[in-house]
Formats: sequence, C-alpha cells, structure tokens
Amino acid sequence: MPRNFLSHSIVVPAEEMTMTTIADKTVLVTGANRGIGRALIDEALRRGAKRVFAGTRQPLAHPDRRVTPLTLDVTNAAEIQRAVEKVESLDILINNAGLDIHSDLGDRATLERLLAINFFGTYGVTQAFLPLLSRSRGAIVNNLSLAALAPVPFSPLYSISKAAAFSLTKSLRALLAGRGVSVHAALTGPVDTDMARTLDVPKSSPESVARGILDGVERGEEDIFPDPMSGSVAEGWRSSVSKALERQFAALPAGGARS
Ligand SMILES: NC(=O)c1ccc[n+]([C@@H]2O[C@H](COP(=O)([O-])OP(=O)(O)OC[C@H]3O[C@@H](n4cnc5c(N)ncnc54)[C@H](OP(=O)(O)O)[C@@H]3O)[C@@H](O)[C@H]2O)c1
Repeated sequence: MPRNFLSHSIVVPAEEMTMTTIADKTVLVTGANRGIGRALIDEALRRGAKRVFAGTRQPLAHPDRRVTPLTLDVTNAAEIQRAVEKVESLDILINNAGLDIHSDLGDRATLERLLAINFFGTYGVTQAFLPLLSRSRGAIVNNLSLAALAPVPFSPLYSISKAAAFSLTKSLRALLAGRGVSVHAALTGPVDTDMARTLDVPKSSPESVARGILDGVERGEEDIFPDPMSGSVAEGWRSSVSKALERQFAALPAGGARS
C-alpha cells in the first residue's frame, strides 16, 4: 500500500474543514457523461471553474473549451493511471460514477460488481489523485446516497456499497485533515436520472442536486444534503450519536491506520 494514502499525519478536528470556492479551480468529475455527473460539470463551469476534467467511459464532446474529456472507467487501474498522467494539477475531485442494481442480499456477484464501482472505484481514483490534491490542499467530494445511512429494502447491495463508501469518506476526512485536504460526503436523495427511472417517488432534478452539492462544498459542509428529501434529515444527522462519535474518534491517535 503506498504511504500517500493511509499513512497518517497530523489530525485536526473535523469541524475545521475549510470552505472551497469553485471559481478558478480545476475540477474532475467521474461519471460525467449523464445524470448528476453531467450536471456537476455544467454547474462547476457556471461557477467559474478554470478547468473541468470530465471522466467518462465513452468519448465525450462538450462545447465549453474549459472541459477536457478523460477516458476513465473507475474500475480500470490502467485508465486511472493514464488519467492521472494527463492532469497536471487538481483542486477538487468529485467521485460521482456509480451503479445501482436491484437485487437480493444473496447475490454475491452483483455485490462484487457494485463494490467494484461504488466503493473500490472511489477508493482507487482517490488514491491515484491524492498527491495532486495534497499539493493543492484541495477537496474530495464523494457522491453517496441516503442509502449509506439506512439501507433501502429494494436495493440492499447498493446500500452496502454506499455505506462502505461513506465509511471510507469519514476515514479519509480524519486522515487527510492534517494535509489540508477536505473530504465531503453528498448524502443525496432520489434524483431524476436513468438510475432512479423505476423509482416511483418524488425526485429532484440533477441540476438542482449539482447546485446543492457545490453549495455544500463552498460552505465547507462535511456532510452535504443536496435536495429536499435529504435536507429533511440534515439537522438530525448533524446532532446524531454517529456524528459525535466520528468527531470523537477523529481526535484519537491513528497509529493503526498506517500502511
Ligand atoms: N439518481 C439517484 O436517485 C441517486 C441518489 C443518490 C445518489 N446517487 C448517486 O449519484 C451518482 C450519479 O448517479 P446518477 O443518478 O447520475 O446515475 P446515472 O444517470 O445512471 O449515471 C451514472 C454515471 O456513472 C457512470 N459509471 C457507471 N459505472 C462506471 C464505471 N465503472 N466507471 C466510470 N463511470 C461509471 C455512468 O457512465 P456510463 O454512461 O458509461 O454508464 C454514468 O455516467 C451515483 O454515484 C449514484 O449512486 C444517485
């Protein structure tokens, strides 16, 4: 395990996370060709981002000259490495690529597929771009889901993968605070994209959710609730035992986290 990822430096309390403006920043979004990812690209441009890297599996053409397409399947280590080599500097990494497959708990092959994208994809891309983010004292934003907080019955395997990615997010937050890298979780509710097509519940537009996520980053919120449904639990989450324990544990020595 490379020491740049899990080895520890100085820990500062999680509340001290800094605000990050998008204007003049270099941003990379994974899963950028459609849905929330596409909306994040356009919202970052609207807020004056200097350069936006759009990570996609298929070639992407974007009319704005600030957008640089990057071939990036988040499960492909060679593509991740090639992407890193094309990005000279990076301020904000948004791990947005994701997959949901409705299946029952006994379907191990599907669980492995979901973990490969939703958990290990986020893990691998973050690890690869961490040297650049440490240099810029940048930010990592992981687009998770309310299913990370409580499993949804029709998609328990997706819920597991998002809960694992949330745990990763909180570990990164504690470990990277001393390097000045802020780590945000977007605990997104239902959004009107291909992923939620079969879901018969009120959904937010991808554009409004992209705004909510970047508003949260600009306000320096650790846990971002970017839509009305997630917003309804934000206050309860922030005063929860789980959040209090996260802060308490973040202050403990981290010798065990060394690689
Ligand atoms: N929609 C919701 O209700 C909702 C709610 C909470 C959280 N989220 C999260 O928001 C994120 C975006 O979802 P969405 O709603 O915009 O879904 P979407 O419209 O289905 O888009 C998913 C995106 O992820 C990309 N992707 C999938 N596997 C990938 C891989 N191996 N490597 C790189 N990219 C990959 C897809 O690329 P391709 O076009 O190549 O397949 C696509 O760009 C996901 O992490 C999702 O879990 C969504």
